[in-house]
Amino acid sequence: MASQSSMEVPFDPSHILLTDKVAIVTGGGAGIGKGIALAFARFGADVVIADKNAEAGEQVADEVSQTGRRGVAITTDVRDFAQVQAMVEASVEQLGKIDILVNNAGGTRMAPFLELGEEGWKRHIDLNFGGLFGPTDAVAKVMIEQGTGGSIINVASIEGTRAAPLFSVYAACKAGMLNFTRTMALELGDHNIRVNAITPDVVDSPHLALFDQHFSYLSGGEEGRRRAVPLSRACSPDEIAGPCVFLASEMGRYITGTTLAIDGGTEASSGWVRDPQNRWTLFPT
Ligand SMILES: NC(=O)c1ccc[n+]([C@@H]2O[C@H](COP(=O)([O-])OP(=O)(O)OC[C@H]3O[C@@H](n4cnc5c(N)ncnc54)[C@H](O)[C@@H]3O)[C@@H](O)[C@H]2O)c1
Repeated sequence: MASQSSMEVPFDPSHILLTDKVAIVTGGGAGIGKGIALAFARFGADVVIADKNAEAGEQVADEVSQTGRRGVAITTDVRDFAQVQAMVEASVEQLGKIDILVNNAGGTRMAPFLELGEEGWKRHIDLNFGGLFGPTDAVAKVMIEQGTGGSIINVASIEGTRAAPLFSVYAACKAGMLNFTRTMALELGDHNIRVNAITPDVVDSPHLALFDQHFSYLSGGEEGRRRAVPLSRACSPDEIAGPCVFLASEMGRYITGTTLAIDGGTEASSGWVRDPQNRWTLFPT
């Protein structure tokens, strides 16, 4: 439980820092996860990069070390619970504790639901659900034993809050992730473990670049983003990382069970886009 004294300490700029915290970022070897891992390090945390791509993980761990914090790459496929448990044990062994978990590993490929088939939907569920439950289970148990609280941040997607043609199973998993976040906030609240989700929309990452290459009609290109995103552009992984630092820090100590949209305003615009004359319309020509 939050102690009375922590409630009474007025916030000052130091409370945004993550000094000497230990964070695990799944899928931290690229894109959003990499942005979060590096931001956490710049704000004072030691970081475990739990990515299935060993080389990418090592590279980000090196970049973390260059900030002066400890960066550790532990090659992990989040779909494999035994690997996840081993990664969590190794994290505690090497860095002494765990204060923050970011469930970031995830992804999708685009296809109509009827073309996905059993193999396709199982692959999406394995990654986007399997990658969520295993680390949450293993890390929350460590946090409870430590008795010092913690922060879990689940990287969902705006697709979890709206219909998502060509992303059906991915979007269903992300919607499930949002509700799992709320339930975990209740089940873990009396251990002062806070559980929150974020919903990015268009973030420039290797994953998105893949879509850009093959499905530019969907990612919109620069002009499409200018018209559809209230802030007129895609965002960088670092712009996702900033609010994650806030959620993980003492500044966010009374926030749990919530979903933070980091989407440049697209949840708010929900269907409204700018026309070529720069007027908002529901029926673009
Ligand atoms: N990029 C976007 O526009 C966007 C928008 C909304 C939500 N998201 C979500 O953000 C998260 C990160 O997306 P991204 O765009 O940075 O992806 P990315 O593909 O650019 O990077 C993902 C990283 O996760 C790793 N990874 C993949 N499968 C893994 C597994 N089974 N175990 C461990 N590591 C694994 C990859 O090796 C890679 O390093 C995902 O959950 C995605 O659904 C992304």
